[in-house]
Amino acid sequence: MSAEETHQASAEVAARVERRWATIAVIIVVMMALLAAFAGIHRATMPQPRVETIDPARIHLSGEFVEGNLGSVLEANGTVTVRAIGQQYSFTPACIVVPADTPITLRATSADVVHGILIQATNVNTMLVPGYISEQLMRFTRIGDYLMPCQEFCSFGHEGMWGKVKVIDKAEFADRAKGGGRLSCVGQ
Ligand code: CUA
Repeated sequence: MSAEETHQASAEVAARVERRWATIAVIIVVMMALLAAFAGIHRATMPQPRVETIDPARIHLSGEFVEGNLGSVLEANGTVTVRAIGQQYSFTPACIVVPADTPITLRATSADVVHGILIQATNVNTMLVPGYISEQLMRFTRIGDYLMPCQEFCSFGHEGMWGKVKVIDKAEFADRAKGGGRLSCVGQ
């Protein structure tokens, strides 16, 4: 084989390999787009449809996240709203009580630095960013206690920042919610 032919052959090999890798790269991009669409349509993961802001220095003074408004509340339409805040180094309420088999909206924010809420054995996992309200839909099918660690490093006490979610029977929750007010399992 002449030098000319050798050069020609290796150029062909390079072109073939390049085409193959370009095809693989395109397939990966298309697959990622399809996965994002699938996850979004099924609400497993969704970009925030809207951004809600809040002044972290004033959350304890007035508005939705004052202490008396934290915890779980049964709404008129049968769903439950849970409001919570994270601060160095605890959640309020430290123990959240919710009914099983009920659509639940978690609304939470941070009073100081970035924290995270992760509920064991579920896909509930959201960051609490000071200045913003995080909202996540959730539903529990199994009664029991779930650990809720802070999943974002928030300084020296981070590893001790744990909460709990107690999922109870739907009828029992409705019974406890009859008196109105905000429910939590702190102190039980
Ligand atoms: Cu709060 Cu880590």
